[in-house]
Amino acid sequence: MAKKLIVAIDGPSGAGKSTLSKALAKKIGYTNIDTGAMYRAVALLARRRQIAAADEQGLQRLCSELRIKFVREADLERVFINGEDVSQAIRTPELSLLTAKVAACPAVREALVFLQRQMGEAGGVVLEGRDIGTVVFPQAEVKFFLSATAEERGRRRYEELRGKGIDVDLQQTIAEVKERDTADSAREHAPLKRAEDAINIDSTKLSIDEVLVEMLRVIVEREQRTTAVTE
Ligand code: DC
Repeated sequence: MAKKLIVAIDGPSGAGKSTLSKALAKKIGYTNIDTGAMYRAVALLARRRQIAAADEQGLQRLCSELRIKFVREADLERVFINGEDVSQAIRTPELSLLTAKVAACPAVREALVFLQRQMGEAGGVVLEGRDIGTVVFPQAEVKFFLSATAEERGRRRYEELRGKGIDVDLQQTIAEVKERDTADSAREHAPLKRAEDAINIDSTKLSIDEVLVEMLRVIVEREQRTTAVTE
């Protein structure tokens, strides 16, 4: 039997990571772990409890109380924190900006990386985020770095939000994507960075299906190679 691998998908926001990791996990029967949703959940709780992004102790306490659960229903993936379905509440543009700030806090990163390792160490997982291949699972058998131009990523985010009935402006959305890129790449702790051994995929001109085919090809090859080595 093919060995169950750890698949890491990193890259900036709007490159297609969420869609692709969900589709990929479904196709190969792996569990999908959306680590961005975990940072978003911490940001949502912090906002509700009026804990500032700079209050490291407050955020650390909050993380220790965090009970996060992913529930899959057909094609829908819901996120629960402490029993409440927050799937919609964590996706607003304002919360995205706050999340980038909260994600810069070392105590938050430490707590969430610990949880992510627990969830993924047995393999058979696709984890999507910013630091999966560099920090969370540097030993992952498959690493992808998925990117696209900021304009294209902003346009995609704009379409997605409009599709959900959220009224946003295209230029403003592109500006927010760039702002988050800067926050994610310039932060001191675990900045967004391509792992040296990650496979780079630029999705600017590719459809979801084209990227999916390429990812599947790599995974099948790695599964076979890993199985051959361990047999
Ligand atoms: O992927 P996303 O847009 O849901 O991520 C939300 C924020 O969390 C984004 O600012 C980057 C940050 N993040 C992170 O720092 N590390 C991760 N592994 C995942 C997300």
